[in-house]
Amino acid sequence: MNYHFSEALSGMDGTATRDIFKLLSRPEIISFAGGLPASDALPTRLMGEIAAEIFVDETEALRCLQYSVTEGYPGFRETVIDLVRDLGITGITPDNVLVISGGGQGLDLMLKAFVNKGDVVLMEDPTFLSFIQAAKSYNAVAVGVAADSDGVSLGDLEAKLKRYAPKLMYLIPTFSNPTGKTYPIEKRKAVIDLAHRYGVIILEDDPYSRLRFAGEPVPPMITLDKHGIVVYVSSFSKTIAPGLRTGFAVGPAEIIRKLTIGKQNVDLHTSSLSQLAIKKYIEKGYFLPNIAKSIPLYRQRKTAMTDAINRYMPASFKHTDPDGGLFIWGEFDAPVNTTDMFQAAIAENVAYIVGSVFFADGGGANTLRLNYTNESPERIEEGVQRLGRVFKGV
Ligand SMILES: Cc1ncc(COP(=O)(O)O)c(C=O)c1O
Repeated sequence: MNYHFSEALSGMDGTATRDIFKLLSRPEIISFAGGLPASDALPTRLMGEIAAEIFVDETEALRCLQYSVTEGYPGFRETVIDLVRDLGITGITPDNVLVISGGGQGLDLMLKAFVNKGDVVLMEDPTFLSFIQAAKSYNAVAVGVAADSDGVSLGDLEAKLKRYAPKLMYLIPTFSNPTGKTYPIEKRKAVIDLAHRYGVIILEDDPYSRLRFAGEPVPPMITLDKHGIVVYVSSFSKTIAPGLRTGFAVGPAEIIRKLTIGKQNVDLHTSSLSQLAIKKYIEKGYFLPNIAKSIPLYRQRKTAMTDAINRYMPASFKHTDPDGGLFIWGEFDAPVNTTDMFQAAIAENVAYIVGSVFFADGGGANTLRLNYTNESPERIEEGVQRLGRVFKGV
């Protein structure tokens, strides 16, 4: 049979990703390729205790096993409202919150709500690969905005706002994936001013801001928005556990209503079991202390990686030094193609992600992304030493 699939997913067969993950399951490979939180930080025992509690309570068990409403498990949006207060997100009601099945779903729903075929969506170059792919799957035109050391370049952003009249701008202003960069508050304000002037909605993706191991917190862009143009998406994937597939979107009630409609015909609602487990986890006071426990581990692993880079990588390798999150971004100040070098790295039993995949419309041949959270400091040192051998003389 000749299957006539849609244009939306053409050119995305997923083979490259599958092949990489197959490779990474080999124990001899030291992997800096994934985006996994540290397995040691996952709360297996606490979640076991909570799951047992849920299933001995007949009412709770039934609520978890029965269909529920799209907006969120009863009381869970209030839990989210309480949770985001310390980030400075205040003055919101349940109408401003939608529970989603991971942050990724929030990105998809925003595209679904705002984008028609051919519309331009702006994003910082480089950015989260899944967002680029999701934008293309809605037949949007993904346009990258050049970046400085502290986030999008305001000059290039204004030029592209003028040129393309985009509907939507996607940003990861805190500990970006893939660069680890954070926008200072002045840049956040300037970006909001520009977006307001050109009538563009900002999608602020923030899965990582609580994973800060150095420096001072910067308020989320939504707290600086006086115009109702920022939608904030976050997730419990990196703060509790990704397998729970739960996150939340916060924004103007009118936009949240649209996202709710968009979600209704996709998965009806996020897993009630996950929502109740997270609600109990937060109410029992486990949330912030458990993150605090994982912070030294992340700090130690990031430091192990930057120390090893300084020791083993060639001088042409420039890299970010993040204050939090999961990733270091590297760029060779030399004519090297990291795609061409990938097989040589695998031959040395070390893996990274080729940087060019994070660019909306090409570029970044000399770049790569390194994850430091899911290997021990000893294996990080060994892995970077291997990378140093691969890129020796570059
Ligand atoms: C920037 C960014 N946004 C969103 C996500 C999606 O995470 P999830 O759907 O697990 O919440 C990720 C995951 O790696 C990410 O890096």
